[in-house]
Amino acid sequence: MARALVTGGAGFAGRHLCAKLLSEGIEVVCVDSLVFGTGARHPDHWPCRPKGAFSFIHEDCRLFFDRSEERFDYVFHLAAIVGGRIKLENHALCVAEDLAIDASMWRWAARTEPGLVVYLSSSAAYPMSLQRAGVCQKLAEDMIDFTDAVGVPDLSYGWSKLTGEYLLKLYVEKYAGRAVAYRPFSGYGEDQDFSYPFPAICNRLLKQKGASEVFVWGSGHQCRDFIHIEDCVEFIWKTFRQLPNGASLNLSSGTPTSFIELAGMVTAEIGWTPNISGMTDKPEGAFFRCGDTALQSSFGLVPSIGLREGIRRMLDHLGRQNRRQRLDVDILT
Ligand SMILES: NC(=O)c1ccc[n+]([C@@H]2O[C@H](COP(=O)([O-])OP(=O)(O)OC[C@H]3O[C@@H](n4cnc5c(N)ncnc54)[C@H](O)[C@@H]3O)[C@@H](O)[C@H]2O)c1
Repeated sequence: MARALVTGGAGFAGRHLCAKLLSEGIEVVCVDSLVFGTGARHPDHWPCRPKGAFSFIHEDCRLFFDRSEERFDYVFHLAAIVGGRIKLENHALCVAEDLAIDASMWRWAARTEPGLVVYLSSSAAYPMSLQRAGVCQKLAEDMIDFTDAVGVPDLSYGWSKLTGEYLLKLYVEKYAGRAVAYRPFSGYGEDQDFSYPFPAICNRLLKQKGASEVFVWGSGHQCRDFIHIEDCVEFIWKTFRQLPNGASLNLSSGTPTSFIELAGMVTAEIGWTPNISGMTDKPEGAFFRCGDTALQSSFGLVPSIGLREGIRRMLDHLGRQNRRQRLDVDILT
């Protein structure tokens, strides 16, 4: 049985990845320090309890890397300090911890020589100059090219991911390692933290049902490329052993959706049509962030969960959660 290490495996993407690997018969060792303020949840509280050969180590992965000489078949490195826009903008030095986490992982990998390292980078690593209003270019994998000048990415988070990918390149070229990277765009799902736009907008609008005007952050015209987490994980599963050594692949739908459009889709699904405006006192981040899907298509990757279906799932989930909470209150009173 192949054995995989998943760092940050108790986070939003990690939980889904662990479940997929286990369902495919891979043994999973999940190392996560359950950092407060991230999407971390203890495995006892995952929506689907892990089934199969699963073990959980509650530890900072840097300590694990310091003490472990174990050679894994696969390493999925997801551990990172991430968060919504407020965290990225207001806690830029806290997020910069990712530089230390990644450096520690690449040094450990060079020492223990795993079969393959899968590095979770981000669309935030792309140059911000390509994501301005008036440019609006879909971001293709070759727009990050370390042989030429690299563009300025999105804050310390983007720099960490860009540097992580550069370390991957050195690991492959100078240490004869085998590694690939993925650049997820706006991965979303029902169990995502409310600090991310998709669950936050759905939750807020459900509570505001019937209001004549509702608001989204920034101008509201900023676009994101929403892709359901199950599609992200499926794309990784289908390609991680096939990608050329050192390659990076987008995890994107290729469809730009503005926050106002998203809110419009959500309110339509809930069943009312308010006025939707921006909140200019809230940050909006990049204006246009959407992935080019040509390389994904060449591997036969097509998302199976459209945004409308994703919204339906999210609203159903929130509805169930609200009903449960009301029931709890009734029982207590
Ligand atoms: N979800 C997305 O759409 C998306 C988009 C772009 C990139 N990514 C990348 O995917 C990865 C997972 O993201 P996510 O959305 O699941 O975030 P998340 O916050 O839900 O998960 C991150 C996990 O890493 C853990 N962690 C942080 N520091 C650690 C450390 N030193 N040791 C061990 N564990 C540590 C946290 O406890 C948390 O469980 C990250 O690397 C992120 O940059 C995700």
